Amino acid sequence: MIVDLEEALRSLQKGEIVAIPTETVYGLAAPITNEESLKKVFETKKRPFFDPLIVHVENKAQAQGLTKEWPEIYDLLAASFWPGPLTLIAPKNEKVSALITSGLDTVALRAPNHPIAQKILKQLSIPLAAPSANRFGKTSPTTAAHVELEFDKKIPVVDGGPCDVGVESTVLRAEVKTGLWNLEILRPGGVSRAQIEALLHHHKVMFHFVEAKQKEASPGHLEHHYQPDSPLILASKNQTVVSILQRLREKNLMANQIVELRLPAEAALAARVLYSEFRRLSKPKTAMFFKIEPKHQLPEWEAVMDRLKRASSIYE
Ligand code: TXA
Ligand code: MG
Repeated sequence: MIVDLEEALRSLQKGEIVAIPTETVYGLAAPITNEESLKKVFETKKRPFFDPLIVHVENKAQAQGLTKEWPEIYDLLAASFWPGPLTLIAPKNEKVSALITSGLDTVALRAPNHPIAQKILKQLSIPLAAPSANRFGKTSPTTAAHVELEFDKKIPVVDGGPCDVGVESTVLRAEVKTGLWNLEILRPGGVSRAQIEALLHHHKVMFHFVEAKQKEASPGHLEHHYQPDSPLILASKNQTVVSILQRLREKNLMANQIVELRLPAEAALAARVLYSEFRRLSKPKTAMFFKIEPKHQLPEWEAVMDRLKRASSIYE
């Protein structure tokens, strides 16, 4: 059910969960101080408790209030990318419950860049834990209508229009060893590797990217994730529809219809429409295919390709 900002604030204060718009995707929010609300978030999404939540903050000061240590390099990253689609992992302090972090000793923090999310955070003055507002493992919502469909209109939603970025935030962890920063991208997203590199080069920071040990590092970024309701197949550029149909048959996917998922030529625009296209094309007995072209291997496509691969992984 669509609610306005005032009603959303009242609901959050009463301990109800509310779906709120962010610039990446809609989030299902609960104040970090209310354990019952936090539990409702997991229950509503059918999310396993091993998958930790991102805490949304108003600004850097509020983020630092939740950490035991604040890696120095986060000053630069936050100054440049906050508010925005970058989530920073830092050692947590006692203000962050184990429920939020799934027992990890780190917390994921991000300041969203959406005026409605910002107003709510400011007026509530309590940080909000908010995973994407979808059932666990499914496609994230990028409009209020998607949230309504996802939860049968049972959850209050503030309508902030379609999300600008369209895929989730980049999740980053930094550690310094003898003057060299090790950066791990646990989930590619709205801020690209190239943007991070450019900023750090500009400030003459000594760093390198290390391969993320996905499973232990980011428990929720699973191989089968972001699933649309209809099967998605990744095809090569010159594969024919007949051979794609053949592949579907081999996998026992009885689709009567196959449709091509086409995305804009520019990566940022493709990210913006990706999830709404997943939903628009998902129909009973229909399968989707996406043709991978050489340009999709370029770094700016990292987040979109990550989502396409995971969304199609159970059919590979
Ligand atoms: O753009 C976004 O990040 C959206 C909007 C709503 O802000 N939120 C989002 O949340 O995508 P969620 O819960 O769907 O994804 C959170 C990701 C998961 O992959 C989780 O494993 C990871 O962040 N994560 C959370 N806390 C972590 C931690 N302490 N260490 C490593 N990964 C963590
Ligand atoms: Mg999610």
